Amino acid sequence: MGPEPMHSVAMTAKIPSHIPPELVVEFDRFLSPELKRCPHERVTALVHGSPDIFYTTGDRGHWVVGRATVARDMLRQPDKFSSDPKYNIANARNPPTLPNQCDPPLHTDLRRIINPFFSPAGVQKMEQQVRQLAGELIDEVALLGKCEFVQVIAQRFPVELFMRMADAPLDHREMLVAKVDRFTRAPDIQERLAALEELGTYLKGLIAQRERTPGDDLVSLAVHGKVAGRGLTDDEKLGMVTLLFLGGLDTVAAMLSFIMAYLGQNPSQYQRLVGDPPLIGNAIEELMRVHGVAGMERGVTTDMVYNGVEFKTGDRLVFLPHIYGLDDQVVDAPFHVDFDRPISSHLVFGSGPHRCVGSHLARLEMRVFIEEWVRRIPAFSVDAQSDLPTRGGLVWSPVAVPLVWPRAVAAAPHAIGAAA
Ligand code: HEM
Repeated sequence: MGPEPMHSVAMTAKIPSHIPPELVVEFDRFLSPELKRCPHERVTALVHGSPDIFYTTGDRGHWVVGRATVARDMLRQPDKFSSDPKYNIANARNPPTLPNQCDPPLHTDLRRIINPFFSPAGVQKMEQQVRQLAGELIDEVALLGKCEFVQVIAQRFPVELFMRMADAPLDHREMLVAKVDRFTRAPDIQERLAALEELGTYLKGLIAQRERTPGDDLVSLAVHGKVAGRGLTDDEKLGMVTLLFLGGLDTVAAMLSFIMAYLGQNPSQYQRLVGDPPLIGNAIEELMRVHGVAGMERGVTTDMVYNGVEFKTGDRLVFLPHIYGLDDQVVDAPFHVDFDRPISSHLVFGSGPHRCVGSHLARLEMRVFIEEWVRRIPAFSVDAQSDLPTRGGLVWSPVAVPLVWPRAVAAAPHAIGAAA
C-alpha cells in the first residue's frame, strides 16, 4: 500500500468567524488517512508543517495544539483551559466522566479517592500477579511460533488485570472491550455516545452490587469515596467508574501493541534487551515517548489571546500527546529511538492536575510484560505480509500485529538477568 494523499479529509464543520484562514488545517483525529499506518510519523509531519495551534473542521470542529511546550503550559492552567464540558459542549457526556471532566477543587477531592490504589507503592503490590499473567499468556503462544498480538495478548493481559482490580467477571471481557473500542474509535459521535451509554448501563449494575456488598476492589473504592465530607452522587459514581474502565481496558493494550510492533521490526534493538534485561525499564520509557496513544480535550473559559491566537469562550481544544514526545523543539533527533537516552519528561500521560492516575500501573505492566517475553522468546519479527494497519480516535491503536518466531527459539523461561 503506497502513501495516501495528505489533506484529503472532507470539511465537516463551519469555521467560526474569529478563526483566520491561515490557521485552518485539515485533520480529523478519527478519519485522517495519516492515522491508518505509521500514525506517529505521519501525523507529526502534518503537525510540524502547521501552525503551533491550528483549527480543523474535523470531528465537528476544534483547535489542535500541536507542540509540546505550548501544550504543557496550557494543561497547567485549568482556570483558562478547563476540563468542564460546559466550556466544551461538543465533548459533553451524560453523566460527565470523572475525574477527567471537572476542574479543581472537585477534581482534587475525586483524585484523592483513587490515588492510593494507583500510587507507586499500591501498584508495586501487584507485580507478582502481573508477572504471572504475562508468563501464562506468553506460554500459551510460545511454542506456536506466531500470534496476532493485539487480540491474543494485548486485549487480554492489561484487561484481565484491570478486571481483577475491579472484581468484574472475566467472561464479560470481550463485550466490554468492544464497547470501549466503539466509544474510543467510532468516527460518529452518536455511535460513541451510544457505546458509552451501554457501558454505563452495565456499570450501573456493578455499582449497585458494590453499594450493597463492598469489597477491597477499585469499584468499591470509587463508589464509597467521599468528597468534602459527603458521599458521591449517583452520577459521580458512574462517572468515576466509567472513566476507570475506559482507562483500564484500552490504553495499555494499544501502547503495548505499538511497542511490540516496533521491537518486532527492529531486531537489533530487541537483542539489546535480550542481552541486557535491566535496560528494559529505560527502554520502556523511550518506547512510550515515541508511541503516545491517548489524547485529551479542554474548553476555553474566557475570551483571550494566547500564544498569538485569538480564542473565544467555549472554543474546543484537542491535545495530541501521541506526538509531543516527537517534537523536535524539545527532543534532539526525536525519531531516533535510543534506550540509553536520559529519561525525558514526555507528555504521554498528560500534564497538570489531570496527569494520568494509571501511569505507574501502565509502566509496571509494560516493563514486566517485556521482561517475561524476553525470558521466553529470544528473537521474533513482524510477519512480512503485514503493513501494520492502525486506527485513530481518542486512543490510537494498531489494528493487528502479527508476530512470528522460529518455534525452536521459544525457550523455557530463564531467570531475568541470566545469559540469553
Ligand atoms: C499507556 C497507558 C496510558 C496512557 C497513555 C494514558 C494516558 C492518559 C492521559 C493523557 C490522561 C490525561 C487526560 C487529561 O488530561 O484530560 C490520562 C488520565 C487518566 N487516566 Fe490514563 N493512560 C494510561 C493508562 C491508564 C490506566 C491503566 C488507567 C486505570 C486503570 C488510567 C486511568 C486514567 C484516569 C482515571 C485518568 C483521569 C485523571 C484525571 O482526570 O485526574 N490510565 N491518562
